[in-house]
Amino acid sequence: MKRDVIKDFLPVGVGILVLGFSIAASGTAPQEAKGSPLAQDDWSELNSGADVYAAACASCHGADGTGTPKHILGFEAEVPDFTDCAFASREPQADWFAVAHNGGPTRGFDEMMPAFGGALTDDQIDKAATHVKGFCKDDNWPDGAFNMPRALVTGKAFPEDEYVWELESTLDEPVQVQFKFIVEKRIGARQQVEFILPVGVQQVASIDANGNTDYRWGEGLGDLGLAWKGVLWHSLRRGTIGSMGAEVFLPVGDEKDGFSKGIFRLEPFIAIGQLLPGDTFLQLHGGAELSTDTDVADHEIFWRGAIGHSFTQCRFGRTWSPMVEVIGARELASGAKNEWSVVPALHITLNTRQHVMLVLGAEIPVTDADERQIKGMLHLLWDWYDGAFTEGW
Ligand code: HEC
Repeated sequence: MKRDVIKDFLPVGVGILVLGFSIAASGTAPQEAKGSPLAQDDWSELNSGADVYAAACASCHGADGTGTPKHILGFEAEVPDFTDCAFASREPQADWFAVAHNGGPTRGFDEMMPAFGGALTDDQIDKAATHVKGFCKDDNWPDGAFNMPRALVTGKAFPEDEYVWELESTLDEPVQVQFKFIVEKRIGARQQVEFILPVGVQQVASIDANGNTDYRWGEGLGDLGLAWKGVLWHSLRRGTIGSMGAEVFLPVGDEKDGFSKGIFRLEPFIAIGQLLPGDTFLQLHGGAELSTDTDVADHEIFWRGAIGHSFTQCRFGRTWSPMVEVIGARELASGAKNEWSVVPALHITLNTRQHVMLVLGAEIPVTDADERQIKGMLHLLWDWYDGAFTEGW
């Protein structure tokens, strides 16, 4: 019976993969700059962001950035409040440049947000976008540029509002398939809380009367995780963000087939993100996994790093971010060795708004490669603050 479960389950996983690839391969044709309806005005003399904004943007967005009231605008679309840092800080300026240059639809927004690419120079649009960024006066909020592509293993420093579905599986016997559902909720400018629900299906080995290894299928709930993270410092000038946090795993999982060790685990960590020139990024993550019973599990320390680069298809289209992670861990027990793996991965924005994303990759053991298996990984991400899952495709 159990074997049927996995037989049904694996094709679904493969199906999701193929679907992901075909969506990704279809490409997002960027919207053509339609030319602003206001293009007939001569704005070529405008030099400062404030002047460009006053001439081209303020009619809808209001001189103070809070948005012109609906009854004056005469259209239904909501105009955002740029002084609200909870909204305005989280988008990187490059996205706002894209919207102002090519119009709302280029990021899955309303077409009432016009394209200014024909009426303003790139420099003027960039200055206007900088001016718009300046409406949020509270620099407690880390800039959206720090919201780097999420790696598969290396933790992120930026606090987010996100749902994550993670599917990971070894490819050989004993097969271990793990599914995790993660809810991340941002609290104010700098903090995030997180809830992690893991479930698994795995082959459990037993030795039969003749000494042969036999496998049966076990399935169960893993240990529930609760986490907190807080940003310690961030500086857009230096391109650095640093956070600390901790995860607690509650021993509620099924111990029978090894989905839980039946003990509390505490994982304190730090995470650092560094923006490098030309859309390259570096993320570092280190910490410890502290066990409450060292007879059952030793303490462990871990260190992880991800380096990657984002390529944008056709200037404002889909973003492809290939990256490589190097991850290591070591049990704090005498005779323990460092365990190293590399994780090549690809992060892809799936929809036009870029708030639904896919990360594909594999964890490849470097040390003890004979005993440890390669693990295929697929993570689906939805930044739910930016809109419903079905919006902005
Ligand atoms: C004709 C009215 C109008 C004008 C003029 C206008 N906008 Fe907009 N803008 C909108 C509307 C409507 C939205 C909201 C679209 C949505 O949320 O679907 C918007 C949204 C935006 C956004 C937010 C995108 C996001 O991430 O949510 C930015 C940034 C923006 N406009 C910048 C500008 C700049 C810069 C200018 C001037 C160069 C400008 N707008 C001129 C109507 C306008």
